[in-house]
Amino acid sequence: MMFISLIWITERTRTLEIWNTSTPLQEVQAALGEERPEHYLPAMPDLAKMGEELVKTGRTIGPDGKRSKYISKHYVCTTCHNLELEDPDLRISDPETRLTFAKENNLPFLQGTTFKGIVNRESWYNDDYVKKYGDEKIERAHENLRESIQLCAIECSQGRPMKDWEIEAVLAYYWTLQYTLEDLKLTEANLQKLNTDKNDPAKNESTQAWLRSFYNTISPAHFYDAPPDKNVGYEGLVGDPAKGKDLYELSCLHCHNADGVSHYVLDNSSLSFRHLERKITKDSHFSLYQIIAYGTYSIPGHKPYMPHYPEERMNKQQVEDLRAYVEMMAK
Ligand code: HEC
Ligand code: HEC
Repeated sequence: MMFISLIWITERTRTLEIWNTSTPLQEVQAALGEERPEHYLPAMPDLAKMGEELVKTGRTIGPDGKRSKYISKHYVCTTCHNLELEDPDLRISDPETRLTFAKENNLPFLQGTTFKGIVNRESWYNDDYVKKYGDEKIERAHENLRESIQLCAIECSQGRPMKDWEIEAVLAYYWTLQYTLEDLKLTEANLQKLNTDKNDPAKNESTQAWLRSFYNTISPAHFYDAPPDKNVGYEGLVGDPAKGKDLYELSCLHCHNADGVSHYVLDNSSLSFRHLERKITKDSHFSLYQIIAYGTYSIPGHKPYMPHYPEERMNKQQVEDLRAYVEMMAK
């Protein structure tokens, strides 16, 4: 009898706890009866600190007290990934609204998806990454966040394989970037509904689904081709040079500045714009149409390469915007 009432009391206190904007989404989902994901880690501040250094600087002091080797000689993770929210509405992955948001919040506009909320996503390297590269490594990464971290360390950043503790450290850091209910932009009324419905286990499943309607559970990725006629460009789209300027500054210059990861240095000189402009219509990897849709591959002896932009990261309209800006500045 005693035993039963104790259980009853713990159950009651749990449901009586009021969820607010700072409650982590994962805690809500667990309380609603969801199984923890495979990549779940409880808060581990020391390990997360190591992970943060690995992500931002490529190395850290490991658990053995020694300085670790750089993961990559060429990049850090933040060369290609943000750490902040980058979409004003988490349900929609749209590069045009993201560009406006990036500009307002002083963020670069990059090929890789933000690490913010990455632990709340349910698959990685989605859509065309699986379809077009569909080998075993991508398949595994698609289903497993630890494998995604490892794949990107080796393939995207052209680095060495990460050790198990390093992957756990990055994962522990990722958990510090998980969504809270505030990130989901729940209204006061939404929060009230959640706090009421949680007391009724019969509603758990529908509440779980309802919560998922506030954010995208994957980062979608679809590839596209260069236009068949580069003189015409992407048919029917008229470029806006003002938006092109934002793309140039928040994206291209992030890597192609004088201290950037590429040998190919761009700036605001007419020389830069003229070089780009002359190549636009050419069959060359210097053509905007080619470099954006296909990126470059790493060549032996020179490892850095440029990842291409899926349509959710820079779309055809934006390529035309960039072209319009480059053409205007080359005059
Ligand atoms: C040269 C650019 C580049 C660098 C450097 C880089 N990444 Fe990536 N990463 C990408 C691109 C491009 C994708 C695929 C698009 C995307 O994010 O979904 C990706 C995807 C990922 C994903 C899956 C994201 C998802 O939701 O699909 C993870 C996890 C990841 N990277 C981890 C890392 C880690 C950890 C590092 C540093 C050790 C790193 N990346 C460095 C470009 C890069
Ligand atoms: C995440 C970093 C990154 C971003 C963002 C980026 N690039 Fe690159 N880009 C590279 C790297 C690395 C190379 C490989 C060449 C090298 O290392 O010199 C490259 C190569 C190129 C090349 C071919 C140069 C050559 O020497 O072969 C062009 C042209 C180019 N980028 C244009 C652009 C434009 C235009 C943008 C903006 C839409 C852009 N890049 C955004 C990293 C980046």
